[in-house]
Amino acid sequence: MNPSTLRYARITGTGSHLPPRRLSNDDMVAMLAARGVETSDSWIVERTGIRARHFAADDMRCSDLALLAARQALQAAGRRADEVDLIIVATSTPDMVFPSTACILQHKLGAHGCPAFDLQAVCSGFVYALSVADAMIRAGSARCALIVGSEIFSRLLDFDDRGTCVLFGDGAGAVVLEASHEPGILATDLHADGRHVGILCVPGSVAGGRVQGSPLLTMDGPAVFKLAVGVLESAARAVLEKAGRQAAQVDWLIPHQANIRIMQGTAKKLKMPLERVIATVDEHGNTSAASVPLALDVAVRDGRVQPGQTLLLEGVGGGFTWGAVLLDF
Ligand code: UT7
Repeated sequence: MNPSTLRYARITGTGSHLPPRRLSNDDMVAMLAARGVETSDSWIVERTGIRARHFAADDMRCSDLALLAARQALQAAGRRADEVDLIIVATSTPDMVFPSTACILQHKLGAHGCPAFDLQAVCSGFVYALSVADAMIRAGSARCALIVGSEIFSRLLDFDDRGTCVLFGDGAGAVVLEASHEPGILATDLHADGRHVGILCVPGSVAGGRVQGSPLLTMDGPAVFKLAVGVLESAARAVLEKAGRQAAQVDWLIPHQANIRIMQGTAKKLKMPLERVIATVDEHGNTSAASVPLALDVAVRDGRVQPGQTLLLEGVGGGFTWGAVLLDF
């Protein structure tokens, strides 16, 4: 292949991993009741669309979930780990403070030498990572990138806060992104607004041998909800305009899986029928940076997403961060 014609970055394989431990809403109701915290299946389903989430076993780390998803994606792409020349892991729940989970993953894959780094944009992390890898591939500094979103959010949850602990789950999703003369990623659009740091955060940090501040997730749900619906529409419109496409030409909208009502609201604003939205939030809960690649892989493996189709991926979350990627699959 002539390198000068490799103008695009194209997804050539997807993979994912969901930890086997599944907690239904009724399991959460029972678990929280034992702590004197009241919730119900009907509240969770009506307000969020979530029916279950998966929690990683105590001995699993972010890089372990990432490894399982990455191996699947590499297999789907027909690539060996030593052919990968860039690894980006989007995560807010890394194995360690440092080094990066991407370096640990690289070692577990046996793909030594290529650049590897973590990207921290909370629930927008995968869309951010895909955009960065796209730019690196188009600039000629990578040819075969492994992009992973991997999270163990269950370890950040305050099980006395019913407003957040029922929402999140663990998992990982991965794609292989390769230089190609055919599209490919058509347009990307990333944003952040640090004025909203406090509405969704884990404020703790490590200092003097201790965690300073709370190591648990806190969220102003209604504030996040309101911002999310607006920015998901604007990011979607931005990538469509950049690529010269219409929403009607998008085969599948694959938004961040936080709340079915946010996803429905976004689809409505874009005048896209709900049948063209990939939703896994019911079974996965909110898996932060893993949610979009997990949903993508589910839809690839069940046959909904087909080669040649146009996909609109969207992320939104802590920071406040948001972004979209429009691509031909
Ligand atoms: O991943 C990053 C992006 N994150 C998101 O997009 C999340 C965005 N936010 C949301 O999805 C929603 O705001 C939530 C699902 C978090 C909350 O839904 P809401 O409709 O905004 O509810 P609320 O926070 O306004 O709370 C309404 C009521 C409150 O009771 P009162 O004060 O009206 O009596 C809460 O105490 O619902 C109560 N409530 C619950 N009740 C039963 C909150 N959590 C629960 C619960 N079970 N788990």
